[in-house]
Amino acid sequence: MFCTKKGYAVVRERCCAMEDEQTIVLEFTLKGSDFNAAGETSSKIKKVLQQIGVKSDIIRRIAISSYEAEMNVIIHAYQGKVRATIYPDRTELVVEDEGPGIADIGLAMQEGYSTAPDHVREMGFGAGMGLPNMARCSDKFDIQSAVEEGTKITMTIFHNA
Ligand SMILES: Nc1ncnc2c1ncn2[C@@H]1O[C@H](COP(=O)(O)OP(=O)(O)OP(=O)(O)O)[C@@H](O)[C@H]1O
Ligand SMILES: [Mg+2]
Repeated sequence: MFCTKKGYAVVRERCCAMEDEQTIVLEFTLKGSDFNAAGETSSKIKKVLQQIGVKSDIIRRIAISSYEAEMNVIIHAYQGKVRATIYPDRTELVVEDEGPGIADIGLAMQEGYSTAPDHVREMGFGAGMGLPNMARCSDKFDIQSAVEEGTKITMTIFHNA
């Protein structure tokens, strides 16, 4: 389904709204272990950013950040949601899940650290690069996690950086 306003085609995925004429909000839900849906959320966000003319190197950073966060929910958590709020000057991504949480965030942030099981590594994931890539690609990065509850990642990418 699509809605169009002021030339912006907005993907309606479960929930999406044009908050005002300057802001696009896209919301998606994610299911743990749903590898068939891998990458769908980030490619929909990418499409909208392309439609509104955000610079391609900025889109690339937003797409990497959202893809890595989306995949972490699918790989490591039970369920979650992604909210992308696209302002004229920046995109904010909030990816929140219900899952096992992360006991040692400092360790999880280290390049190469991964607890991905073998069957996930066989699909090409589990290099332990997702969190470091998110931190590198975003201008602001925040991670909050509670063991046996879940994890929330908030990222901001400025469009004119
Ligand atoms: N949403 C999450 N819930 C629970 N644990 C997580 C979550 N995200 C990351 N982790 C933990 O942090 C580790 C590092 O995450 P990171 O994304 O850097 O690597 P990875 O997902 O294991 O591999 P890659 O992202 O390279 O495919 C994970 O292996 C996992 O232990
Ligand atoms: Mg990852």
